[in-house]
Amino acid sequence: MKKLLKSIPFLLVVMMLAVVVSACGKSSKVDVGIVLPTKDEPRWVQDEQRFKDALKDTKYSVEILFSQGSSAKEKENVDSLIAKGIKVLIICPQDGDAAAAAVEAAQKAGIKVISYDRLITKTDAVNYYVTFDSIAVGKAQAQYLVDHAKGNGQPLYLYAGAASDNNAFLFFQGAWTVLQPKIADGTFKIANSSEAVALKDTAELSRDQQSKIISQVTTNWDANEAKNKAQTHLTAASADQKGDVAILAPNDGTARSIADVFGSDSAISSYVVSGQDAEKASIQYIIDGKQSMTVFKDVRSLVKDSIGMAVSILENKTPETTGSYNNGKIDVQAKQTEVITVDKENVKASLIDSKYYEEKEFTGL
Ligand code: BGC
Repeated sequence: MKKLLKSIPFLLVVMMLAVVVSACGKSSKVDVGIVLPTKDEPRWVQDEQRFKDALKDTKYSVEILFSQGSSAKEKENVDSLIAKGIKVLIICPQDGDAAAAAVEAAQKAGIKVISYDRLITKTDAVNYYVTFDSIAVGKAQAQYLVDHAKGNGQPLYLYAGAASDNNAFLFFQGAWTVLQPKIADGTFKIANSSEAVALKDTAELSRDQQSKIISQVTTNWDANEAKNKAQTHLTAASADQKGDVAILAPNDGTARSIADVFGSDSAISSYVVSGQDAEKASIQYIIDGKQSMTVFKDVRSLVKDSIGMAVSILENKTPETTGSYNNGKIDVQAKQTEVITVDKENVKASLIDSKYYEEKEFTGL
């Protein structure tokens, strides 16, 4: 008893400290929280910069956090933003399904959730979705391969994004609608996916069928994994699967490493390879003739739309939307931005003239 009495003042001090600490936490108030997947890919560092540029003059306080490829870190980030009193969460999930828990916690705290670029799936805790037309991205990639096809029976190598990212399905779906008729008519011959070969006569793939192909040719959005896969494919390829080839690469990071592998195989006489994101390194590759095209997704529009939505929410207005996407649980109201095909021919007009990049950032333009 004596011991307990003695410890009471100490306990009181600890309790008071706890109150002070939590009050401090609350006082660093943030209106809008932004959570992006990783700093390891230039795409998302670019989004951060575009957010910073766009937010320079805002009266609202905004905090941007990165999840570094981990859904656990993402949940921690969201929890810390909830504790700071955010009203709106703009989040690009690392893994669409896994992010449900994080946004459900936000919803419980009365926060409105905007899914950014990638859709958060299988939960009703998503209020809005701001995105590019991802089916159109896949179609543009595939159309480029079709437009530059050489002769008949040209070997076609397929690669995809991460299966944990709903976009990987949309990109592949778009690409398949354009490629499949050209596989059926003999223009292309699939060289690296037995699952795709088995489905070559199916014009519209179900999610399960897409999943079968994607799990076989996934890069996991990882440049190294893409490189290893490409090496394995070329090692296994027969002579008639080399020569002039076409390659569906899902984004710029993977396109560059796949292009490096194909470019250093002496039995590959030429390759056409797709990409997406208009990353600076890929623009240089396009100028140098090492990557054929990219799909330019003007991040400035996405940033503008998501901030516009957040401000509408903060001002108790209803954000403007243009359609909806089903996330496996609900239809999420969405605002969509168009995309542009970029190759050597229009790189200057689309990226320099639009002030997306500066000419001096590249050589040989
Ligand atoms: C994005 C792409 C990006 C990829 C890998 C996708 O969800 O839409 O722009 O290249 O993720 O990070």
